[in-house]
Amino acid sequence: MTGKQIMITGGTSGIGLAAAEALAALGENIVIVGRNETRTKIAAARIRATAAKGATVGTLIADLASQGAVRNLAAEVLGRYPRVDVLINNAGAMYTTRQVTNDGIELTWAVNHLAPFLLTTLLLDRLKASTPSRIITTSSEAHQGADIPFDDLIAEKSYGGFARYKQTKLANILFTSELARRLTGSGVTAHCFHPGLVASGFNRNNGLLMNLAMTMLWPMSRSVEKGAETLVWLATSADVVKTDGGYFVDMEWQPPSPQGQDVQAAQRLWEISEAQCARSSTEARR
Ligand SMILES: NC(=O)c1ccc[n+]([C@@H]2O[C@H](COP(=O)([O-])OP(=O)(O)OC[C@H]3O[C@@H](n4cnc5c(N)ncnc54)[C@H](OP(=O)(O)O)[C@@H]3O)[C@@H](O)[C@H]2O)c1
Repeated sequence: MTGKQIMITGGTSGIGLAAAEALAALGENIVIVGRNETRTKIAAARIRATAAKGATVGTLIADLASQGAVRNLAAEVLGRYPRVDVLINNAGAMYTTRQVTNDGIELTWAVNHLAPFLLTTLLLDRLKASTPSRIITTSSEAHQGADIPFDDLIAEKSYGGFARYKQTKLANILFTSELARRLTGSGVTAHCFHPGLVASGFNRNNGLLMNLAMTMLWPMSRSVEKGAETLVWLATSADVVKTDGGYFVDMEWQPPSPQGQDVQAAQRLWEISEAQCARSSTEARR
């Protein structure tokens, strides 16, 4: 895999940054996506410091909460990168307060599910032209026990920060399985994974109490480097291609929750996500 072009969202912090550093050290060419120019430049400098000789490190800026920004990002990638060998949809967050984006989408859903969905579908032809290529999405064991609220996709009827986060991590798994099904025989594979409980910047955006709770969890949490291990393995190992559509924990395939294995829900989610993205595109043109 050495020298492949790897694109990673959420590359400014935590698991994404640690994975980018490890992959650059292996000689892969990295482009990180960040939403803040300064943080993105600082992260890129860190990655360059560990990169193997000849490995390139690029940056792209996009706030993944905005569907327009995701579309601009995809257009920039198509203009700048003739190959995308690995797309890593890693950026994600939890929000204890319900917020709605300018596209009218609940924020957690927009960042954690619709952004990877839209970015991947917009880059699919480039990934198909770069085979053998891979799409990896960072999910979580937090998906256990969640259902997709098909009757309340923008979480108007009920909202809880963690409950909503769990739904989006289930969406990552269903998206991956449906994506793999649609890509069968194309030479593009799709996988997702749980990184473990990781001492990262996660949930530091939700006020003092949540910050304190995360600090208390640090002794039980693994390092970002350990959290990135399965991601690096999914991006580089030759064994991975045989397990298309799978969910991985600590470099081992694991069955997700029963809801994560629901093929009909995966198909329905795909269609609904397409409709949500189409709506935001139409509204942007008005
Ligand atoms: N930490 C855990 O225990 C854990 C467990 C299971 C799964 N995960 C998953 O792991 C992934 C990475 O999280 P992490 O733990 O590494 O947390 P993190 O340190 O907070 O990193 C999250 C990354 O996502 C980016 N991001 C968030 N919102 C964004 C937006 N609107 N537009 C663009 N980028 C955005 C952040 O950018 P900024 O630097 O600009 O904030 C950051 O680079 C997430 O998908 C998360 O759900 C984490």
